[in-house]
Amino acid sequence: MIPNIIIAIDGFSSSGKSTMARQLAKTVGYRYVDSGAMYRAVALYALKNNLFIDSTPDVDAIVASLPDIKIDFKLMPDGSQHTLLNGQDVENEIRSFGVSNAVSPVAAIPEVRHAMVALQQALGKQKGIVMDGRDIGTTVFPDAELKLFVNATAENRAKRRFKELQEKGDNHSTFEQVLENVLSRDHIDMTRSESPLRRADDAIDIDNSNMTIDEQNSLLLELFNNKIKELTATK
Ligand code: DC
Repeated sequence: MIPNIIIAIDGFSSSGKSTMARQLAKTVGYRYVDSGAMYRAVALYALKNNLFIDSTPDVDAIVASLPDIKIDFKLMPDGSQHTLLNGQDVENEIRSFGVSNAVSPVAAIPEVRHAMVALQQALGKQKGIVMDGRDIGTTVFPDAELKLFVNATAENRAKRRFKELQEKGDNHSTFEQVLENVLSRDHIDMTRSESPLRRADDAIDIDNSNMTIDEQNSLLLELFNNKIKELTATK
């Protein structure tokens, strides 16, 4: 029997890891979970409920609100997944520039991380899952069978994010602002004390700066097939 595995895909923001993870999950028939969407949903809740003092998260108020924040994913007819915040579809809102700017300090709050990690681990119980994020191969699933660490230059990542925002009709930000946001999120994600963005020692590095989507997809499928072969051979 082909074993069901856990695939952990970590990397910097806008490195294209979500696109890779989503496509791989579709190809191999696994469930895809975007862990960043969960932190984005908490940040959106905090913004909507005025849990920021100036632009700094009100940590005590956010922690006190955690029991009132319920995050789910809804499978759409086209196969995509939408994030639900307390039953409401917030998939578009959580991708806005405002949320992108607010999310990193919210994701750095230890209690927020503990709650999200518990939710992520529950989703992975049955295996057969591809999850992407920052700490999936290190903290959430340290025993994941396949771990990938995706990187691309900050310029390339900012270009992608800028294009995405423009395609969505979000013309409020300049390329320089997007680049600044990418660099500042990198910094916060790598320097926070609670499970910072870190490459797992046993992760495979992928730099996709110069790869097409098709090339990325074939590489991932090859890595998946090799892992399955390796696991079935050692059984
Ligand atoms: O991948 P993304 O840009 O949607 O992530 C949004 C934010 O959440 C980003 O600041 C990093 C943070 N994040 C995290 O700290 N841990 C994860 N597992 C996923 C995302």
